Amino acid sequence: MTHDPSVSVQRDAEGRLRHLITLEGLTAAELTGLLNLAQFYLRDSGDLPARDQSLWGRTVANLFFEPSTRTRVSFELAALRLGADVVNLDMQSSSRVKGETVLDTIYTLQAMHADILVMRDAEPGLPAYVARFVAPHVSILNAGEATVSHPTQGLLDALTVRQVKGDFAPLRVLIAGDISHSRVARSAWQAFTTLGVAELRIAAPDDLMPGPREFADATRFNDIDRAIDGVDVVMALRIQRERMSGAHIPDDASYHRAFGITAERMKKARPGAIVMHPGPMNRDVEIASDVADGPQSVIQRQVANGVAIRMAVLATIARNVQSRRHFQ
Ligand code: NCD
Repeated sequence: MTHDPSVSVQRDAEGRLRHLITLEGLTAAELTGLLNLAQFYLRDSGDLPARDQSLWGRTVANLFFEPSTRTRVSFELAALRLGADVVNLDMQSSSRVKGETVLDTIYTLQAMHADILVMRDAEPGLPAYVARFVAPHVSILNAGEATVSHPTQGLLDALTVRQVKGDFAPLRVLIAGDISHSRVARSAWQAFTTLGVAELRIAAPDDLMPGPREFADATRFNDIDRAIDGVDVVMALRIQRERMSGAHIPDDASYHRAFGITAERMKKARPGAIVMHPGPMNRDVEIASDVADGPQSVIQRQVANGVAIRMAVLATIARNVQSRRHFQ
């Protein structure tokens, strides 16, 4: 049982996903369904990106209160490719900086007939909070919530691994770096655990290791050389200095020596192991530049999969939620 309010708020009375706030509580079948739909959009692509009209007549608003390149652009492209009207709010010049509450901003967008609100914010709990107040035709998609959750990233990571490795069951997956501040790690852990990987390892310096109540069943390492031994997947994470107060992080060069994913270290992983990174990367800090660009890297594939996964999520939500015409 979970007490996370995001889990219950994201489903409607019939149990369908109405919002996507967390991967927690999604079944393996639901996750697999989203991966399959994303794969369909990819397979359909040919020379031109796949398109359909699943979101025709709907309006998607992107509200990013924190910086983003990949996630914001891929949500925008995904919505456009499904025929939606899309607005991107420039949050530096939004009324929130003038003191307007988030709910008032949301009500304003709702009054303009926005249907799907894609939100990124540094405040934990905000997507679930907002979801409780929106009109019945409005959905909230979490595009990065503080250190808590980044569900579409977890999905695109799972899709990337499935494309290269096929089956999750035999895999040993390592997530390495600043685990404690990483919403990417939390959503990836939820996805990989539900999809049934053989072993999930987390490796971090002691100051960046989450508390014992999180990442249940993950094997913990503070030594990257031991952690990487025999794994099939290595996910490197950026040090999130913007979320820290008081952690003792060495300078970049020392961190790279102690914890960076290097070609030398990759030799300890299983032959054919892949290297992932959600971006943005700090080259030669958490990951060596030659590894990031090398044959084992699937980083660009993750980016490509991001568009397809967001198409799958948008199309699924649009199918589950009646458009506002039904509520008038
Ligand atoms: C990450 C994020 O914002 O959580 N990036 C992303 O969405 N691809 C990771 C990070 O900022 O380090």
